[in-house]
Amino acid sequence: MDAPRIIADTAEAADNDQLFLLLRHLEKAPGASQRTIAEAIGVSLGRLNAQLRAATEAGLVTVSERKGPDRRQRFAYGLTPKGMATRERLIQAFLSRKFAEYAALHAELTGSVGDLMPLKYRSTLMQSNLAPIPELYVSYDSAQKLKVEAAELTSHDLTPRQICDLELLMNGGFNPLKGFLSEEDYNGVVENMRLADGTLWPMPITLDVTDAFADKIEIGQDIALRDQEGVILATMTVTDKWVPNKANEAEKVFGADDDAHPAVNYLHNTAGNVYLGGPVTGIQQPVHYDFRGRRDTPNELRAYFRKLGWRKVVAFQTRNPLHRAHQELTFRAAKEAQANLLIHPVVGMTKPGDVDHFTRVRCYEAVLDKYPASTTTMSLLNLAMRMAGPREAVWHGLIRANHGCTHFIVGRDHAGPGKNSAGEDFYGPYDAQDLYRAHQSEIGAEMVDFKHMVYVQERAQYEAMDEIADKDNITILNISGTELRRRLQEGLEIPEWFSFPEVVSELRRTKPPRSKQGFTVFFTGFSGSGKSTIANALMVKLMEMGGRPVTLLDGDIVRKNLSSELGFSKEHRDLNIKRIGYVASEITKNGGIAICAPIAPYAATRRHVREEIEQFGAFIEVHVATSIEECEKRDRKGLYKLAREGKIKEFTGISDPYDVPQNPELSVETENVEVDNCAHQVILKLESMGLIAAQ
Ligand code: PPS
Repeated sequence: MDAPRIIADTAEAADNDQLFLLLRHLEKAPGASQRTIAEAIGVSLGRLNAQLRAATEAGLVTVSERKGPDRRQRFAYGLTPKGMATRERLIQAFLSRKFAEYAALHAELTGSVGDLMPLKYRSTLMQSNLAPIPELYVSYDSAQKLKVEAAELTSHDLTPRQICDLELLMNGGFNPLKGFLSEEDYNGVVENMRLADGTLWPMPITLDVTDAFADKIEIGQDIALRDQEGVILATMTVTDKWVPNKANEAEKVFGADDDAHPAVNYLHNTAGNVYLGGPVTGIQQPVHYDFRGRRDTPNELRAYFRKLGWRKVVAFQTRNPLHRAHQELTFRAAKEAQANLLIHPVVGMTKPGDVDHFTRVRCYEAVLDKYPASTTTMSLLNLAMRMAGPREAVWHGLIRANHGCTHFIVGRDHAGPGKNSAGEDFYGPYDAQDLYRAHQSEIGAEMVDFKHMVYVQERAQYEAMDEIADKDNITILNISGTELRRRLQEGLEIPEWFSFPEVVSELRRTKPPRSKQGFTVFFTGFSGSGKSTIANALMVKLMEMGGRPVTLLDGDIVRKNLSSELGFSKEHRDLNIKRIGYVASEITKNGGIAICAPIAPYAATRRHVREEIEQFGAFIEVHVATSIEECEKRDRKGLYKLAREGKIKEFTGISDPYDVPQNPELSVETENVEVDNCAHQVILKLESMGLIAAQ
C-alpha cells in the first residue's frame, strides 16, 4: 500500500492560513492598530494593507472610522457573517491538512499505513463518538456584535418547523450540514439521499419562504433568521434560491405525492413556494422554557458520556409514552449491545394527534426509575419529524451518531405515517430496517433491531415473540394502541402488566375520560329558528347536572361583547364565527362546556371551527332545522319584514345564503315540538357520545 502523499504547504494553503490568521485577529482585537496586527500575524504593513483590501472587497471584513484618543488606531474592523463562515471553513481545511500530515508522519515513522483509516474516513476516526463535533455558533463576543449588525438585515420569521431544523443545524445535530441545503445538495438528497459531495444525507433540510419574501432576496445577500418572538437566532448568506418541484420531492422522499402523508401535506399546504439555501452562522440557541435540564446539545451529551465513561450507547427514539413492553425492549437492546441506554424522545414536532410532549416527558421520567441505576439516561430532542419511514430511520441514525451514540434501535414501521389515501400503509413494516442496514457503515451508529415483546401470562413476564418456543401452550396478552386509547377515553382499567401505574395516572390526568373532558355544542340555523331558546334550556339542564362549568356564547351576546364592530358581510360573519370558535376552543381545552348559538351560515367556517375545537374535545354540531318560511312567519324581532322591504341588507335566508349542514351530529325540528324536548334530544346525544356519564 502506498504511503499517503504529504500535502505540501502549497501557495493556496499558505494564503488560506494567512487569511485565517487575519480574520481571527480582527475578531479578537477589532480596534488594534495596523502595526500591531501586522506584527501579530507576521506580515509587513504593505502586505497587511493588501490583505485587508482583498478581504473587504470579498465582503469578509467591515472597516469603519474609529474615534478615540489614540491617533494611530484609526480604524475599527469587524467580521461579516460571510467572514465568520469563511473562518469556520478555513479551520476545517486546516484540520484536514493537519490530519493528512499526521498520517504521513505516522507512515514515515512506522513504515506502514495499516493502522490508520483511509484518508477520507480520517475525520470520522478523529471524531469518535466522544470527541466534540463542529457547531455553527460563533463565540459569545462575536454573537453580540453580529446580533447588532444582523438587526439591519432583511429578516425571515422562522416557522416552528424551521426553528427545530435550525437548532439542530447550529448545535451539530445535523452535522455535516453547514446550513440550509443549496439547490445542488437538495437535488442530490432528493434523488439519491446524498449531498453533492457524496455524503449520505436522506432528508431535505430546506428554508422555504413565500414568493413575496423570495422576490426581495438577492443571491449573496445575508439575511437574519428570527424566532416567532423576533429574536435573531442566526444569519444566513443566501447562495441559492429556487422553486422546487414539490411533487417530485414528495414522490422521492416520502414515497408518494399523497396529502394523507403528514409531510406531503405540509409540503403542499404549509411550506412556501421558494427555497433559499446557504451557510448559517449561529448566534444563539432557540429558547426553551420547559424541561431545560433535560435538553442537551450533541456536544453536551458527548461530554456527559465522556464523563461517565460510557463508550457504547444505544439510543431509543420515541414519540409515544413508554409502557412496560418498551422498557423491556430497550433494556434488552442495551444488554445485547453491551451498551448504556439513552432514551431520546422527540419533543419538537411529531405526528399530528400524538400525546403532547409535556405529558410524555412526565411519563418518561416515571419510567426512568425502573431501569437499573446508572445504566440509562434521558435527553429531549427538539427534532421536527417528517414521518418518512425508511429515510427517516437513516436520518434518525445520523442524528443519534452526532449525539455520541454508537447504536440505534430501529423498530417495525419506524416513523411510519399511517395509511395513505387508498387505506394502505405507505411503507412495508421492515423497509426502514432494510434501508438502515444497507447504509449502516456510513451512518456511524449500528442498528439494533426491535424485538417484538409480548406478555406471557403463565410466566408473568415479557418475552421476545420470536424466542418463544412453546407458543401453543401459553397465553399471550397484548393491548393495541387503539384499545389503549379507548380504555383511557372511557375510564376503563389498564392492567399493570401493560403499563406502569405512574404512567397510566399521568395519561389519565391529561386525558380524562370523555365524561370529564370539555366539549362544544354548536347550534346553527336561521334567525328566529329557536337556537337561543334551546341553547338556554340546554345550559340550565347541564348546570343542574353540575361537574363542569358551562358558558353560553349566544349570537346576540357575542355580537355585543366580542364583535360589536362587525356587520353581516361574508368577511365579518366569518370573523365573528372564528372568534366564537376560538373562545369555545379555549373553554373546551380547559375542561368546560361551551354552547354556541350563532347563525353561522357558511359550511367552510363551521368546518374550520370544528377542526380547531376537535384538537381538545368533542364538537357537536346541532342544526336547528326550522324552515325559513316558519322563521319568517314567527318573525319575533320583526327583522324579516324589514329584510323583505330591503331595509336590512344581506339578511340570511332572504338576501344572503345559508349552507344547510350536511352531516351534523344532530338535527332538531322545532315546529310543534316543545323547547324542553329539543334540549332533551341534545342531552341524549351527549350521553350516547359518552360526554355525560350516568351519575
Ligand atoms: S352570523 O351570521 O352567525 O355572524 O350571525 P349572528 O352573529 O348569529 O347574528 C345574527 C343575529 O343578528 C341579527 N341580524 C341579522 N341576522 C342575519 N342577517 C342579517 N343581515 C342580520 N342583521 C341583524 C338577527 O337578530 C340575528 O339574531 P338571531 O339570534 O339569530 O335571531
